[in-house]
Amino acid sequence: MDKPGAGLFITLEGGDGSGKSTQSALLTEWLTDAGHTVLVTREPGGTPLGEELREIVLHRRGDIAPRAEALIYAADRAHHIATKVRPALERGEIVVQDRYLDSSVAYQGAGRVLDGTEIRNLSLWATENLLPDLTILLDLPEDDGRDRLAERTKYDRLEAEAADFHARVRAAYLGLAEAEPGRFLVLDARQPREVIAAAVRERVGSLL
Ligand code: TYD
Repeated sequence: MDKPGAGLFITLEGGDGSGKSTQSALLTEWLTDAGHTVLVTREPGGTPLGEELREIVLHRRGDIAPRAEALIYAADRAHHIATKVRPALERGEIVVQDRYLDSSVAYQGAGRVLDGTEIRNLSLWATENLLPDLTILLDLPEDDGRDRLAERTKYDRLEAEAADFHARVRAAYLGLAEAEPGRFLVLDARQPREVIAAAVRERVGSLL
């Protein structure tokens, strides 16, 4: 089972604070104004079970083994896609989703313990091979000022580790986009939000 129905499946990806929710809202408003039915959703979460899993994986962290964490995201995804996203696509709706399988590859892979291809295959199994029609990657290049600070070792080890983690997440995302240029639209998240929104509309418009 691959892509169902006549709907359109759009996902947004990017680091924390890259502006995904703003762009999701702007895109949804534009689509709704044009008369389309839009399902706005997110992972982890998006269903009652998903919200419980979200609570576990995001707020009770620290002692979840990497494979268990990857499986919780995959379980959330399996349930979300089966009960909410596929039915909407089958009804011909447009699904605008904050984060999907690329988040798992980028984040769970960035922990250096798990292999990106295995994580991707796990998500494909969980979703019966559902790939988005379009994935918008809001790419947030690293803050040069922070790098300079790091050189002067003015910030502590934890912050340095966090910066390193985010650099690995970003590199993973860019690698995914390079591997599937037809599915990804990569935009510099530092641009004004209207500039980003216009680029998103142009690409989505070409898919409608
Ligand atoms: P969230 O609170 O939704 O914030 P934002 O999307 O604005 O960053 O955080 C979701 C977190 O979950 C985020 O840090 C990335 C992480 N995540 C994974 O590690 N793997 C996944 O498969 C998904 C969907 C999210």
